[in-house]
Amino acid sequence: MGYAEYFNLEREPFSNAPNDKFYFNSDQHNQALLRLMYSVDSDKGLAVLVGGVGTGKTTLARRMLDNLSVDKYESSLLVMIHSGITPEWLLSRIALQLGVKKPDNDPLKILKQLYERLLQIHSEGRKAVVLIDEAQMLQSRELMEEFRGLLNLEIPGKKLLNVVFFGLSELEQTMSLDAPLAQRVAVKYTLKPLSVETTHSYIAHRLKVAGSEVVPFVDPAIDKIHKYAGGVPRLINTIADNAMLETFLRHDQIVSEEIVDSVAVDLGLSKPEVKHAAESVDEVPAAATPTAEELEEDNQADLEAIDSLLDGFQEG
Ligand SMILES: Nc1ncnc2c1ncn2[C@@H]1O[C@H](COP(=O)(O)OP(=O)(O)OP(=O)(O)O)[C@@H](O)[C@H]1O
Ligand SMILES: [Mg+2]
Repeated sequence: MGYAEYFNLEREPFSNAPNDKFYFNSDQHNQALLRLMYSVDSDKGLAVLVGGVGTGKTTLARRMLDNLSVDKYESSLLVMIHSGITPEWLLSRIALQLGVKKPDNDPLKILKQLYERLLQIHSEGRKAVVLIDEAQMLQSRELMEEFRGLLNLEIPGKKLLNVVFFGLSELEQTMSLDAPLAQRVAVKYTLKPLSVETTHSYIAHRLKVAGSEVVPFVDPAIDKIHKYAGGVPRLINTIADNAMLETFLRHDQIVSEEIVDSVAVDLGLSKPEVKHAAESVDEVPAAATPTAEELEEDNQADLEAIDSLLDGFQEG
C-alpha cells in the first residue's frame, strides 16, 4: 500500500510527471500567461519567458499550448533537446509543425513554403504560433538569426509568425548574440520561485486535486518545505512527496516539521537554498511583478500598453 491510500487520496498529489489536472494558477503563472497570450494576440512577434530550474516554464508552455484553440491558432510546441541543432533542422521542423507538407531541402525554398503556408493561415483568420521550450539550448548566432528571419515574415503592417521562447535565464545571453533579435523581444516575463504563502496554497491545491479534503501538514512543516525548496515547485513536490511517505511509514497522521527536516537531509537539501529563498516573491516584494521601468530597461516591453490591454482581457 502506498501513502495515497493511507491518506485517503485518489492519486499521488506531488508527482513531478506533467499533468494538466494539477495546474496551479498562481498569480505569477497567471500574469505570465496573460502577457504571453497578449503578445500573440496582438502579433508582437517575439515573447520570452525565463525562470530558474524547475520553476514551471514547461508547465506554462503546455498550458499556453492548450489555450491556443485550433480554430484561432496554428500552434506548435518544440522542445530544443540538445545544443547541436542546426538552422536547417530548425527551419524544416518549424515548417512541418506549421503544416508545410513536404519541406524542401533548400532552406531558401523552405522559407518560401513557410511564407505561403503562413499566408494561408492568415487568410483563414488564424494566427501562427511557435512555442520553443528549453530555448537556452539555441546556443549559436546562426540559430538566433534564423529566428530573426522567421520573425521578418510579414505582410505590410502585420507579422505572420509569433514566437515564444521558454528557457533558463542564460537564454538572455544567447539572445544577446544577435542584437536585432534581442531588440525584437516585445514581452518578457521572469518566473520567480513561489513565496511562502503561495507554497501553502500550492500544496493545498495539489492535495485537493488528489482528492484530499484536508492538508495533512502542520503549517510550520510547509514553511520548512518552502525554505528547503527555495520556493521551487519541483523541489516542493519532491520534499512534500517524501514527507508524506515518511509520515505514512511512521504511521503518523500529519506531516511534522521534524519529518520535513529529516527528508530534506536525506534528499541532500538540508542546507536551505538561501539564495533562492531570498529571491522568492515574499522576501523581495518589489521583484514580484517587474515594474514598468525594469521591463522597459530590460526588454523595451511596453508594459503600460500591455497592462491597459490586459485589463480589457481580464474583464472581458
Ligand atoms: N503552475 C504549476 N502548477 C502545478 N504544478 C507546477 C506548476 N509549476 C510547476 N509545477 C510543477 O513543478 C515541476 C517542475 O515544473 P516544470 O517542469 O514546468 O519546470 P521547468 O521550469 O520547465 O523546469 P526545467 O528548468 O527543468 O525545464 C513539475 O512537476 C510541475 O508539475
Ligand atoms: Mg522545462
